[in-house]
Amino acid sequence: MQILVVGSGAREHAIARSLSASPTHPRILVAPGNPGTASVAENVPVRADDVDGIMTLVAGRGIDLVIVGPELPLVLGLADRLEAAGVPVVGPTAAAARLEGSKAFAKAFMDRHAIPTAAYRTFTAGQHHEAIAFVESEGAPIVVKASGLAAGKGAIVCDTVGEALDALNAILRDGAFGGAGDFVVVESFMKGEEASLFAICDGNDYVLLASAQDHKRIGEDDTGPNTGGMGAYAPAPIVTDEIERIARKAIIEPTLAGMRAEGSPYRGVLYVGLMIGEEGPRVVEYNCRLGDPEAQVVLPLFHGDAVELFLRAATGGLGTMSVPAARGAAACVVLASAGYPGPCEKGHPITGLDRADALDGVHVFHAGTSGGAGSGYVTSGGRVLTVSAVGDSLGEALALAYRGVDEVAFDGMQYRRDIGRKGLERLGEA
Ligand code: GLY
Repeated sequence: MQILVVGSGAREHAIARSLSASPTHPRILVAPGNPGTASVAENVPVRADDVDGIMTLVAGRGIDLVIVGPELPLVLGLADRLEAAGVPVVGPTAAAARLEGSKAFAKAFMDRHAIPTAAYRTFTAGQHHEAIAFVESEGAPIVVKASGLAAGKGAIVCDTVGEALDALNAILRDGAFGGAGDFVVVESFMKGEEASLFAICDGNDYVLLASAQDHKRIGEDDTGPNTGGMGAYAPAPIVTDEIERIARKAIIEPTLAGMRAEGSPYRGVLYVGLMIGEEGPRVVEYNCRLGDPEAQVVLPLFHGDAVELFLRAATGGLGTMSVPAARGAAACVVLASAGYPGPCEKGHPITGLDRADALDGVHVFHAGTSGGAGSGYVTSGGRVLTVSAVGDSLGEALALAYRGVDEVAFDGMQYRRDIGRKGLERLGEA
């Protein structure tokens, strides 16, 4: 079997690695991949958002299964094109990917299907004055979101009415998010702790991976600007068995049933960002892909055959798949370049990768790297590497991940030293 993974980040490295551990020994290609994926797969120089280029590659190489990592190709209709060509694909159609691509659609969908989420209103640029009046009547804290894809930066939590009015101006008047800001969603602030669930779906049934918690801010104690994610751990102790049961019944299953009823059966990864507070789990957002860095912890904890999992997601049959019981914990730490999440330095030599990777239970996933094992790796992006580790407990996984981090070095390397602290506190192990 030949499997194509689309994307170039640490998430795609983790997907390719999970496939490479399959007893079915598939041939794995990654488009465009990165120097890390080259160690487990063949990299093919086609951009992830080049839908025509991916289709040509799939036809030319006789690909049997495509797994799409990032959201943009899905929103651009890559899964529709592959389905029309009869190629199994893990990833929703463009219509189903609106759950991530349009927050206005996602909120209205949740309303239609009574899925718990924050109260909200949607406004267009022509309704700027109504949006201002709504913010002033609601007061702060309040959340202002650009409706479209905004690289994880489109949701602005505003502590004051002034900040919310600035956010409205930035999105609706100044076009800070381009077309993603044609609509703005203004929603109530939800109190609680965030966690993520990842359901691998075949349109009818699903397999739930371990719950996870990301660390979105650049600074320790959740300070400073938002990033793509600076580290994660799984499972998240805040997601108790009872919270998971409620989330399955009140969120995941109604979401799949709702998408089926609306003529867009959901196949692929359904990433549900949850706020868990006194009112139980509520949806912060949907995404149509695995999280990054969450994939780097939830995939190493999946003890089944990843090829079978993804193939069944694309072709059906997840309801009868036997999935080994979850055990242990995983944690990961993202190593970023100086300046990230703003403009950052590049081209610095990276040392110690082999020593980190050689530690039992540690895996180093590449993202913003270039070069190769022979010539040496250098930094080439904001998030450079994810050092991930599995252990019998969260404490063990974290200790091991940080041992891996201690081996790696590059000029300006920055990372958070408090990954997993909330989880340890909840377990009484901090
Ligand atoms: N880690 C957050 C995301 O992947 O959207």
